[in-house]
Amino acid sequence: MKQPIKMHSSALALGLAAVALGACTSEPISESPEIGSVDRAVEVPTTATLAAAAKYAGRHAGSAVQENPLQNEAVYASTLAAQFDVVTPENAMKWGVLQPNDKSTWNFAAADAIVNAARANGQKIKGHTLVWHQQLPPWVTESMTAKELRKTAAGNIKALVKRYKKKVAAWDVVNEAVADDGSGLRDTIFLRKLGPDYIGEAFVSAREFDANAKLYYNDYGIETINPKSDVVYELVQELLADQVPIDGVGMQAHISAQSAPSVEALKANFQRFVDLGLTVHLSELDVRVSDVPGDRNRRLAVQKQVYLRVVSACAQVEGCIGVQTWGFTDKYSWIDSFYGPDDPLQFDESYQKKPAFYAIIDGFVGVPADAIEAAPNYIPNSSFESGTDGWTSWGGSLTASAAEAHSGLRSVRLSDRTGNYLGPVIDLKNLVRPGGFDVSAYARVSGSASEPAKITAQVICSGEDPAYETVAEGTATDSGWLNLAGEIEVPDCALDALNLYVEGPAAGVDLYVDDVAVREQDSGLGPELLQNTGFENNLDWWFPWGAATVAQSTDAAHSGLGSGYVTARANNFDGLATNLQGSVEPGVTYQASGWVLLDGAETAEAVLTAAYECNGEGLQFARIAQAAASDSAWTLVKGSIEVPDCPLTAFFFYAEGPAPGISFYFDDPSFRATISNEGPNVLRNSSFDSAAGGTAWWFGWGPTVVGVSTEAHSGDQSAIGTGRTDSWNGIAYDIMNNTSEPLVPGGSYALDAWVRINGAATGNVNFTTQHACAEGGGDQYTGIGATAATDTGWAQITGGLTVPPATCTLTKYFLYAEGAAAGVDILIDDVTLTQQL
Ligand code: XIL
Repeated sequence: MKQPIKMHSSALALGLAAVALGACTSEPISESPEIGSVDRAVEVPTTATLAAAAKYAGRHAGSAVQENPLQNEAVYASTLAAQFDVVTPENAMKWGVLQPNDKSTWNFAAADAIVNAARANGQKIKGHTLVWHQQLPPWVTESMTAKELRKTAAGNIKALVKRYKKKVAAWDVVNEAVADDGSGLRDTIFLRKLGPDYIGEAFVSAREFDANAKLYYNDYGIETINPKSDVVYELVQELLADQVPIDGVGMQAHISAQSAPSVEALKANFQRFVDLGLTVHLSELDVRVSDVPGDRNRRLAVQKQVYLRVVSACAQVEGCIGVQTWGFTDKYSWIDSFYGPDDPLQFDESYQKKPAFYAIIDGFVGVPADAIEAAPNYIPNSSFESGTDGWTSWGGSLTASAAEAHSGLRSVRLSDRTGNYLGPVIDLKNLVRPGGFDVSAYARVSGSASEPAKITAQVICSGEDPAYETVAEGTATDSGWLNLAGEIEVPDCALDALNLYVEGPAAGVDLYVDDVAVREQDSGLGPELLQNTGFENNLDWWFPWGAATVAQSTDAAHSGLGSGYVTARANNFDGLATNLQGSVEPGVTYQASGWVLLDGAETAEAVLTAAYECNGEGLQFARIAQAAASDSAWTLVKGSIEVPDCPLTAFFFYAEGPAPGISFYFDDPSFRATISNEGPNVLRNSSFDSAAGGTAWWFGWGPTVVGVSTEAHSGDQSAIGTGRTDSWNGIAYDIMNNTSEPLVPGGSYALDAWVRINGAATGNVNFTTQHACAEGGGDQYTGIGATAATDTGWAQITGGLTVPPATCTLTKYFLYAEGAAAGVDILIDDVTLTQQL
């Protein structure tokens, strides 16, 4: 049912001061840099840090802060101090942290420490959070009266706001008060006991104790126009109409890269709140990437695109006051424990800048975001806005220069060049993988009207001589930017180096380069498995399937000059085939495609098929894709196939489909593996089926007896733990000694399992690890996934573990299922543990 969100008129009529968290004085982003031969470096503000770049845009760059590393880890404290101009205590100001024991004692130690450190660093502070239904004191329960709850909650607001008056510049007054499905207000203890007015009352009371702090409503999932943000929009309008003192809306922005919004969608939503006279703050940004396909480089490149979209949107909407990330190092992100292992922030676990760092800088200085469908750029620092990180040169002087910029404020300049081969260089060896990449860069010169310029790739396969490839070439001038664009095929060899550089102008001429991009040609796909896909000169590698006659033809081509031509077809399945036996791998999923043009019918179905044989048992057929083809335009037929996990004795791929008598042309086919970011299951027995050896590799934890049950999630059996005398008893596996591949120190692994119970209707089942290190520290237990199990069906557990780093010499490492009450049997099935690559 939709909750009414009408407020009663509040008594206070405080004028709104809907401006920024604190005034930023800097030149606005709209002042475009003048182009001229004078080096303007001195006139352009520094943008080396997040805060400095934000300042240029008249915005703030913030981070949530945890007290423990702030006090105990020097690099945490120094990075925080250097990079941000606003901080928010991540937990220290939450009611449950302040009053863990009773309503009359307070624990301000952690909050004070964070506030004092911020003030010492000249950082502003945003407080978080006065009213929230989570992290409440344990003594705030349903058994409280409304009066007691109102009084103690008001007491919390008063204590916090008064204590930090003039120190805390803004408050998240009410947090997460709207239901996720957009049906109205969230059902919380505050709504149940106090009614919807609790929201307005909290703002009024915060204003009472600090007339100047900016007061925010804060929530997640409200970054774009959607049912939930619509309710927030309605809520704040009612608050404003009732003259409740609200200054802004905090949009948390805990985003998953796989479903991240566009710049336009963000801007449209920000703008409608700004149009109400409110400010907008991106208050808890992080970008999850664990389910982005491909390797880590690809995930971080996609993450960079998403960060740039969010920061650009804020920089482009006047009234968006800034972007704050929820932490700044992947070492301390709440995401790992709430969503599973991930890398959501802009610094890695070792405090090194990630591609996302450069995206935040870029967003503030006006480097445009990629179109939403653009393949990710694998170069972390592609725009030189904060310096030359990642770039070198073989001579001359390399600087990030504000004298010229293709986008943003800076480009990279190579001066004092003593040879035409000198230019900015980046080694791509640890960034890209074998396959095709599109390369692009912008170049201009100074000191000559026009000069040759080119992008060169120096490829050194281990043990071989360097190979030089010209990727793109043109003529650079001193009056505008030249776009150089081409492609490289990264070879499948052990690379000593893959140096990409721009070169060409005569010695003595200064070379500027900007906006360098290396984008994969097909996202998340492995190398091309097919040969002769252009059919330019012949039909090598291809042969007729069925009764067809096939020939190379230049009468039609999808690209280039030639195609394969299939005639004299007597059956639907007659077509053009190639042999992939030995190229495809069992169990792997491939994406297959090809272009078809009909000859002899206006329309007909075109089909891509695989014919394969397992273990010499005869050919089987799998349809990969189909599409309605025509004789007037080329049609793309595209689909995917998981190659059967059997000993393959034959594998053919062919194009077919139209009715007998219809001829067709076929061109530009492709057959490539879809890249998985998951390793194989490292548990040797996951199914407990009779064929897998029943309980093999698993044993009882505590007095538990492990046997098999015919109650199976899949196959014929599951494992059952009986005779449990304590909740921690269960079914265990030795993951130090018995995994099929040794666990990688520091590696992230995903757990996936199915559980049920016997002997109670419901009960929790957890997967837990126990480990110990030779270096000391005793036995350590880590919960890696949990679910509420029942005796009527299977419940899934998904979780993740991070293997202890190499600094721990493991003396034991066990994984076990436990948790249900003593006497209850635990059943588990289909347990997999896979590395997240
Ligand atoms: C999170 C903290 O980051 C964690 O350390 C803590 O265990 C739980 O809360 N929305 C909010 C934040 O408003 O307060 C939450 O912070 C993350 C989601």
